[in-house]
Amino acid sequence: MCGIVAYIGNKNCKDILINGLKRLEYRGYDSAGIGILVKSPDGNSGSQGLEIKTVKQSGKINDLEKLLKGQKIEGTVGIGHTRWATHGEPNQVNAHPHFDCSKRIAVVHNGIIENYTEIKEELKKKGHTFISDTDTEVLPHLLEEFLKSDADGGMLIAMQRLLKRIKGSGAIVALSSDYPDELIAGRIASPLIAGISKEANFFASDMPAILEHTHNFVVINDYETVRLTRDKIEIYDASGILLQREPFKATWTLESAEKAGYEDFMLKEIFEQPYGIRETMRGRITNGIFNFDEFGLDDDKIKNLKKIQIIACGTSYHSALTGKLVIEKWAKIPVEVDIGSEYRYRSPLIDANSLFIAITQSGETIDTLAAVKEARKKGAKVIAITNVVGSTISRESDSVIYTHAGPEIGVCATKTFTAQIIVMYLIGLYLAKRKKLLSEETLKKFINELEIMPNKVQQILNNADKIKKIADYSYRHTCFLFLGRIYGFPMALEGALKLKEISYIHAEGYAAGEMKHGPIALTDTKTIVVGVIPKDFVYDKMLSNLQEVKARNAKIFALTTEGDSNTSKYADYTFEIPGTFEELYGILEIVPLQLYSYYIAKNLGRNVDQPRNLAKSVTVE
Ligand code: F6R
Repeated sequence: MCGIVAYIGNKNCKDILINGLKRLEYRGYDSAGIGILVKSPDGNSGSQGLEIKTVKQSGKINDLEKLLKGQKIEGTVGIGHTRWATHGEPNQVNAHPHFDCSKRIAVVHNGIIENYTEIKEELKKKGHTFISDTDTEVLPHLLEEFLKSDADGGMLIAMQRLLKRIKGSGAIVALSSDYPDELIAGRIASPLIAGISKEANFFASDMPAILEHTHNFVVINDYETVRLTRDKIEIYDASGILLQREPFKATWTLESAEKAGYEDFMLKEIFEQPYGIRETMRGRITNGIFNFDEFGLDDDKIKNLKKIQIIACGTSYHSALTGKLVIEKWAKIPVEVDIGSEYRYRSPLIDANSLFIAITQSGETIDTLAAVKEARKKGAKVIAITNVVGSTISRESDSVIYTHAGPEIGVCATKTFTAQIIVMYLIGLYLAKRKKLLSEETLKKFINELEIMPNKVQQILNNADKIKKIADYSYRHTCFLFLGRIYGFPMALEGALKLKEISYIHAEGYAAGEMKHGPIALTDTKTIVVGVIPKDFVYDKMLSNLQEVKARNAKIFALTTEGDSNTSKYADYTFEIPGTFEELYGILEIVPLQLYSYYIAKNLGRNVDQPRNLAKSVTVE
């Protein structure tokens, strides 16, 4: 999830690009760059005495600005990019724009090119050389190659061929010194809009980048390509047919546009979960094909695995608990889960036959990092799961599996959590596959189900108003108990954590069977029991637990499965989630619980994006 801005007009565009990028920093902020068409100092680069001048820097836009200070870069066509790394560390070389061999084509890109390794090898054989670790760099080289074979088609036809060649996602904007009066763009699955005004035209990944220049926008759809000149926009469909599309007028303010119209980043990020889940599966599960060899353990290592130790903190710890359940069930490997701050000070038994997995969305949590050091000292191989490329944990582990949820601005983890859960499912299925413990048919069923999971999450989000109503009835209560069993238990813990951190109401998550061992003493008319009760093999047990708290006057909000007419007899409020395999329910259960906490907190007037006393990365003990 990166930010793109591009300009074609009559003004010097350096500052326009930089200001646009600043507006997009919430989309990605680990490195940035601009590319502007300028007069070539020697007057003979490019066909028109022009060349593309790029300036790139790691860090924030401010760092790029510092580098640009005093540099005279004058040009009226340019592209800019702020990066949230997915392939390759966030450094200057990997920052966009990227060039082809001749440096006459520069490209910025937001998305993931799944088949970039294959394309890169193919291009290398044709003499192309690459300097970065990014997937994006293949794009200008592909355009160069297509132009070589069909110069008459120009950049537009080259871009149309490129969209057919790549697999994955991308909003792509290209600039060429041989075609100085146009910008060419293409889109697959990543957001891209064009901004239209009398003075200039723009591309952007999001409105805020260009809202100060225009309110007239054209949305670019999947597999469309666009030629943008100073006074015209031409949009072509996948078969190259010119389309007619009128701009629409946006009424959003800058602030609401940054949040894509949502009231808070947290709500926006909850609603981005279908995207985050899809991106995290991208290239790992595609059209029924499961490829997770990046896990990187050879057959011997997997055969000899005696134990997996997972370490994490907070919300990430709850995804670890889900990991334990599915790995033990599918791959039959014992899994121990621990909290970073506990693990680092006890005397853990770990050796070279153990696999150590550390989960941390930020990649910077000090206790998790300390646990990683401890495990490596004892000879264990460490795999990190993180959302931030180039974070400390990615450097201090043997290998890394990235979640691709995109940057999370709200302090409270939402979309990074569901992306972690997806990785837990992938690890469980992958180990079971390698150990031949799941039949092809069963594996296929899970893979197919995971592929449609983003749609099921979307279905829940489409009913957010129903959750809001339940939250409107609930928010004055002062005690919340979240109960679940087996796969529902980590979600009960996570539901309670979400509620306490953003609403400041006391909430506890419990394994429902534990109620009789103490917590049931808490239940009275002020208590709301949130029961996670999907139609799984412990459904009847959960139902009994809910009946017990009902008998003690607690109010019940039950998360049920579609078609379950029984639970509503005991529950005061119910919300139905779509059915799935029992191992996969967690990812559907947590979404309504996130919404529930969100709406309760809003009813109480809390700042959900920056809850009191909390920080996004916990870098101190
Ligand atoms: C809760 C939350 C925290 C983090 C925890 C670990 O919403 O965000 O509980 O999950 O601080 O952070 P990471 O995953 O960055 O290690």
